[in-house]
Amino acid sequence: MDMANEYNSSEMAIEERIRNLLTEMTLEEKTGQLNQVQWNGWEAFDALADDVRAGRVGSVINLVDRAAVDALQTIARQESRQGIPLLIGRDVIHGFHTVMPLPLAQASSWNPELVRDCARISAQEAAVTGVNWTFAPMIDVSRDPRWGRVAESFGEDPYLTSVLGAAMIDGYQTSDPASPDTILACAKHFAGYGASEGGRDYNSTNIPPNEMRNVHLPPFKAAVEAGVATFMTSFGDIDGVPASGNDWLLTDVLREEWSFDGMVVSDWESITQLCTHGMCEDEVDAALVAAQAGVDMDMVGGLYSAHLPHLCESGEISMDRIDQLVGNILRTKIRAGLIDGDRLDQHTEEPARLTALAVARQAATESCVLLRNEKDTLPLASDQISSLAVIGPMANEPAEQMGTWVFDGKSERSVTPLDAITSVLEGQAEVDFEPGLETTRSHDKTLFTRAVEAAASCDVAVLFIGEEAILSGEAHCRADITLPGAQADLVRAIRQTGKPVIGVIMAGRPLALGDVIEEFDALVYAWHGGSMSGPALADLLFGRAVPSGKLPVTFPKVSGQVPIYYGHKNTGRPPEADKVIHIDDIEKGAPQTSLGMTSFLLDAGYEPLFPFGFGLSYTQFAYSDLHIDRHEMTEKEMAIVTATVINTGTRTASEITQLYIRDRVARITRPVRELKAFRRQELAPGESVQVEFQLSVNELAYYHRDGSFQAEPGDFDIWVGGDSRADLHTSLRLLKA
Ligand code: BGC
Repeated sequence: MDMANEYNSSEMAIEERIRNLLTEMTLEEKTGQLNQVQWNGWEAFDALADDVRAGRVGSVINLVDRAAVDALQTIARQESRQGIPLLIGRDVIHGFHTVMPLPLAQASSWNPELVRDCARISAQEAAVTGVNWTFAPMIDVSRDPRWGRVAESFGEDPYLTSVLGAAMIDGYQTSDPASPDTILACAKHFAGYGASEGGRDYNSTNIPPNEMRNVHLPPFKAAVEAGVATFMTSFGDIDGVPASGNDWLLTDVLREEWSFDGMVVSDWESITQLCTHGMCEDEVDAALVAAQAGVDMDMVGGLYSAHLPHLCESGEISMDRIDQLVGNILRTKIRAGLIDGDRLDQHTEEPARLTALAVARQAATESCVLLRNEKDTLPLASDQISSLAVIGPMANEPAEQMGTWVFDGKSERSVTPLDAITSVLEGQAEVDFEPGLETTRSHDKTLFTRAVEAAASCDVAVLFIGEEAILSGEAHCRADITLPGAQADLVRAIRQTGKPVIGVIMAGRPLALGDVIEEFDALVYAWHGGSMSGPALADLLFGRAVPSGKLPVTFPKVSGQVPIYYGHKNTGRPPEADKVIHIDDIEKGAPQTSLGMTSFLLDAGYEPLFPFGFGLSYTQFAYSDLHIDRHEMTEKEMAIVTATVINTGTRTASEITQLYIRDRVARITRPVRELKAFRRQELAPGESVQVEFQLSVNELAYYHRDGSFQAEPGDFDIWVGGDSRADLHTSLRLLKA
C-alpha cells in the first residue's frame, strides 16, 4: 500500500510517475496492463479477481455492473502491487440508458453543439455504472451505404466528420477527462475501415495513399487535435497491411507525424486476426508484429499476455518497446484521474431523466431531413384533420427506433411515433393504426387489406417504414439497399387510395428510393432517432417544429450507383446532361461511339436522388450577394467570403449554409467540390443575415505524396448555398510565394 500511495502522488510529473511505476513492475505486470479482458458475468468473477490482483489485467470490456466494477477496482487499487486501477470499456455509441439518434442521424443536424450535448448526457449516464472509457466516436469516412456501419459514422465528408468527431470527443471527455462524470473517447477505426470493398464488412480496404491522406485520415488528425485519449485500430487490410500490424499508420503517422501520446487499442481480436489475414504465421508472430507496429492494448485476444513476456526474454522485442506500450496506457490512466484514485472515490449521478430526454428530443428533431414536400403537404394542421391513418411496421416499435449499437438503452424510455401522434390528436381526431407488415422485411401481404382500408377511411396516411435496427450496424450489410420486404408494395397500395401519403423512413442507412419516391406527397428521413424519435416526428409532422436537417451522405436512386458521393473527381470524361442517354432510348444497332462517351450509367445516369447537404424546410431560404474581399491572395493572407441568406417564407427556421471550394488545377487531381465550412442559423420570416467565412491557405491545401500539407498556387472556385449543388459562385487565385 505504501508503495502504491507513493506512486500515486499527484505532485509527480506524469512522465516521472510512469518511469517510477515501470521500474517497479515485473514483465508480467507490464504485459498485464496491455491486456483487455471481457466481463463474463459473476460466475467468472473469482478468476477475474485473481487476475486483477496479480496485475494480469489492464482493462475490462463490457462491464456495466457497478458492484462488480467497484469490487474489481478495489482489488486493483488495494491488492495489486502497484495499485493501478482498470479501464472499464463499453460501446457507448449514441446514448446509454437514454438513446440518442444514430451518429449518422446526429450528423444530419450539422450541429456540433448538439452532438456534444448528446455525448455529454451519454457520458454522465454511463459513468454512473463505473464505465470510464467508450469506443466512440467512429470517424470512418463512409461512402458506401451498403456497409452496415455507415449508421455509426458521420457520413461521407472528411470535414463534417472531423468537426462532429471533435464535438463528440469533447462531450465524452470535456476539458477535464479526470472528472468522474466523463468517459474517455476513442477515435476508431484507424484507418480506412469505411472503404470495405463492396460494402461488405471486414472486407479489404485498398486505399491508395492520396485517398488515405486526403479522405480517411483528416478526421483522425482532427481527433488528436481535439485531445482524444485513445485510438482503436481497424479490422481492415489496407493495401496488404492489416491495420493492427500497420507500423506506417500506428507509428509513422500517429506517433511521429501527429505526436499522439495516448493509447491505441486493437479491435476485437484483431491482433489474432493478423494470422487469418495471412500476415502472421501464428499468434506469437501476431503479438510481435502488433506490438512492434504500435498497438498498445490487445482487446480480448490474450496474445500480449501469453507471448510478449517470452518474446521479451528471448530478445525478439525489447524492454524499451514494452515500456513504451505500457507507458501509453499508464499515461492514459493518469490523465483519466484513475491512478490518483480521486475519481474512483467520487460517485456521480445520472442527469435528470427529463434533461436527458429533452436533449434526445432536440437531437431527434434536428436529425430529420425533409426530402420531399409536394404542394406543402406538411406540416399537417392538427385542427383540420378528423382522422389519420398511422401505417407501417416501424410506427410502434420502441426497440427498433433505437437503432444499432444499443446495449444499455432502455426501450421503456422510447416514445413511438404512434404514441406521440395519438397524444397530439387526442380529443381532436381519430388515429387508426395498421402495421401493414409484421416487420420491415416481411413479404407476407395479408395485413395490407386492413392498412389500405384504414388509409381509405382517413383524411391522410402517414407511413412509418424503413429498416429494423438489426439491418444495419457491424456485419449487417446489404447488397440491395431499397426498402426491404414488401414495403414498396405497401406504399403503392396506400397510394392507390388517393389519400395524401406522407412517408417517414426510419433506417440505419440511406436507402435507394428511386422506385418509390414519386409515391409520396411528403417524405421525412428520420433515420433511427432513438428514445424520443416519436415526439420529434410528431412535432415535425404537425408543424410544432420545422425540419432543418441536411443529408451527411448522398442518396442514390438505385443500389448500383453506389459508391456515389459529391466529392468525386472530375474524370477525363465527365458526364454532360445533354449527352446522357437512357437504356430505353438507345436505337437498335446504335454504334459504339454514339452514346456520348462520358462517365454515366445507361440505366441510372449520373445524378443522385438527393445530393449531399440537401434538406427542405417549411420555409424557403434564398441566397444572394456572394462576395469575396479579394480575388487574389498570398499564402499569408486570408480571404473573407460573405453571402446573404434570407428567409423568404412564413416560418422561423434554421438553415445550414455551406461553403464549397474546388481547386481547379493541381498536380494531384482534386475533387469537384469540397466542403470547407458551414454555419447553422435560425432566421425569422423576412429576416436576412450576412454569413461570413474566412478562407486561409489551410482551406486550400491538400496532402501531397510525401505527407506534406500544401496549397498549389492557382485558381479556386468557391460556392455558397444550401447544399452541395450551391450555384452562387466566386473565385480566388492563390498567388505564387
Ligand atoms: C467493433 C468495435 C467495437 C468493439 C468492442 C468490435 O467488433 O468493431 O467498433 O468497439 O467490437 O465492442
